[in-house]
Amino acid sequence: MSSTAIVSASDENYQDAVKAAVPLLRAGEVVALPTETVYGLAGNAFDPLAVAKIFSAKERPSFDPLIVHVAHRADLERVCVIPEDIQPTVEKLLNAFWPGPLTIVLPKHPDVPDLVTSGLGTVAVRQSANKIFRAISKELGQPLAAPSANRFGRISPTSAGAVMRELEGRIPLIVDGGACSEGLESTIIHLTAGEKRPTITILRPGPITKEMLQNFGKVERPKRPRDGSAPTAPGMLPSHYAPRTPLLLIENAADFRPQPGKRYGLLSYTGEPGKGYVSLHRWAAMETLSPGNGKLPEAALRLFHLLRKLDEAELDYIVAEPVSEVGLGVAIMDRLRRAAAPI
Ligand code: TXA
Ligand code: MG
Repeated sequence: MSSTAIVSASDENYQDAVKAAVPLLRAGEVVALPTETVYGLAGNAFDPLAVAKIFSAKERPSFDPLIVHVAHRADLERVCVIPEDIQPTVEKLLNAFWPGPLTIVLPKHPDVPDLVTSGLGTVAVRQSANKIFRAISKELGQPLAAPSANRFGRISPTSAGAVMRELEGRIPLIVDGGACSEGLESTIIHLTAGEKRPTITILRPGPITKEMLQNFGKVERPKRPRDGSAPTAPGMLPSHYAPRTPLLLIENAADFRPQPGKRYGLLSYTGEPGKGYVSLHRWAAMETLSPGNGKLPEAALRLFHLLRKLDEAELDYIVAEPVSEVGLGVAIMDRLRRAAAPI
């Protein structure tokens, strides 16, 4: 592959994008598409060769399975088999959150290629709310396997420009649908039937928060291996979403001990002088997640974009200030902790 084309699209006008993307997808190619969370690198989920191209463009290890995106709810039965004991809960969750940033892990349909699920008996499924993404999937008539459109372990892209920096020359087309509206990857859950209430296990925190899921069952986080060795479930790799510049997540300001002569940049939460980490150091660069009063949805939306900006500012270290760990703050802190984990 030599050059990567870009085609623009909007919620009102996406015909050119459909015309450019669908023939490529039909021919087993991969295309980067906007979703409401982050940009995805999409291929026909039922075409193992297209799926193999996704893994190779991303340099993703084959043990890390992909999310399958359905255009219609009716397509669910093409990709998974919903156990009877959780069927009512699945129904309620879909009514509440689909289309949208909720991914559910369900037993896989035998027709889904093993490569998509890395040989697991389950498949992760969601329905994106992005109109352009859905129009392309509908026209193709197939569900799309789509991981985030970054190289493995790197920061997820929230704009077409960021996808270009990650995958230029590796894929034929990027559909530019503007900036993503959520900015953080979908919440991934797994369900188990309980005697009274089902248990909802959050495998990856995201825009659909614990608080939002509590009406539907008992919500818990999976247990992590204590020695930090092998992940207990895919998607729980500790090092992820990492900039190239080392990121220090300093949870207590008193723990920040700068080395002389090094350039430190700050990812501030509210950016207010005299508050938080702003006055802690003469920062070589500073970006603010949510200027002013610190609003978590705004912080989530800007997180990956600003991390990428700081990563390009020729710093020795990026220091991240913690955000309050409630609601969306749980997902933001999850991404910061994983970005900060040693590679
Ligand atoms: O918002 C999103 O979910 C974006 C957009 C493009 O839809 N996609 C995304 O995909 O974040 P990706 O591949 O970067 O992350 C998917 C995560 C991986 O960590 C993978 O391990 C996990 O989902 N996953 C996929 N299938 C799974 C399964 N059967 N069981 C448990 N985890 C699974
Ligand atoms: Mg990803």
